[in-house]
Amino acid sequence: MEIQPATIEDAGTLTETCKRAFESDSEFGAPGLGGPPGYDSVEWNADKIRNRYLNFYKILEGKEIVGGFIVGDRGPDYMVCERIWVNPDHMRKSIGTKTFKLVWNLYPSADLWVLGTPEWNTRTNPFYQSVGFVQIGKTHDYSWDGIYYEKRMKEGFPKAMSRIEEIRDRQQRVIVEGRVERIVGPRSVKSRRTGEDLTVADVTLSDDTGSIKLVLWNNQIPQVKIDTSIRIEEGHVKTYREELQMTVGQWGMIITLT
Ligand SMILES: CC(C)(COP(=O)(O)OP(=O)(O)OC[C@H]1O[C@@H](n2cnc3c(N)ncnc32)[C@H](O)[C@@H]1OP(=O)(O)O)[C@@H](O)C(=O)NCCC(=O)NCCS
Repeated sequence: MEIQPATIEDAGTLTETCKRAFESDSEFGAPGLGGPPGYDSVEWNADKIRNRYLNFYKILEGKEIVGGFIVGDRGPDYMVCERIWVNPDHMRKSIGTKTFKLVWNLYPSADLWVLGTPEWNTRTNPFYQSVGFVQIGKTHDYSWDGIYYEKRMKEGFPKAMSRIEEIRDRQQRVIVEGRVERIVGPRSVKSRRTGEDLTVADVTLSDDTGSIKLVLWNNQIPQVKIDTSIRIEEGHVKTYREELQMTVGQWGMIITLT
């Protein structure tokens, strides 16, 4: 077997295999028939194949496309397995395991790989653990709780991550860990732009090097609890009233570390 960059012509077959793979999750804890966004959409897959921030691979067994793997990143050498699937006819034959090894070889400078999967999934959790991922925390931003996994490829502090004292005004895509020492709010505010009612809370996030204000909006607020440790991915920083503030971007993640 091998992996190759997917092309637009592959979108149909990739979608068929993806739909079948995710729908078979109903036997592994899924609350119903379905899958992640776009799992059954040729347009979604075609869009992701074209997306220059992602690398979309097809998994080949001879000439047959038997699955797919979508690679993203959240910073330099902080790699994300956005999605992997194998056609149910070919499952449990080590294709998923071999695919990870081939993908890792394509990104030799990666410090680490991360991914999330639903807690209910009785197939993906043992699968990711079997290829060496270790649970680092949980996510709560969907209707289901997610298990967040990491696999460190190198020792030492990943270059994409920041200590709090290093965080600078206008820094984008910040990845940082800290303790939630204080939460002020939530309080209601009206959007100055749209007049919409919003909820906001101010969190003090601290590590051994310092503290920073983390501003949470709406459905981000219940994801963060006092006296827990969290990791933020895709944090954005600006100065407001002479104070550094970080918000979590649209593509960001809030992970409660366990
Ligand atoms: C998860 C998935 C990619 C695994 O691919 P695969 O090629 O079947 O996996 P492998 O054969 O390499 O399995 C490696 C190990 O994972 C674990 N595993 C795989 N399938 C499992 C299952 N049904 N039940 C329990 N453990 C399982 C086992 O430890 C297995 O080793 P073993 O066969 O020696 O016991 C595949 O099941 C899939 O496409 N699932 C649906 C889509 C999905 O949920 N994708 C991930 C979310 S993005």
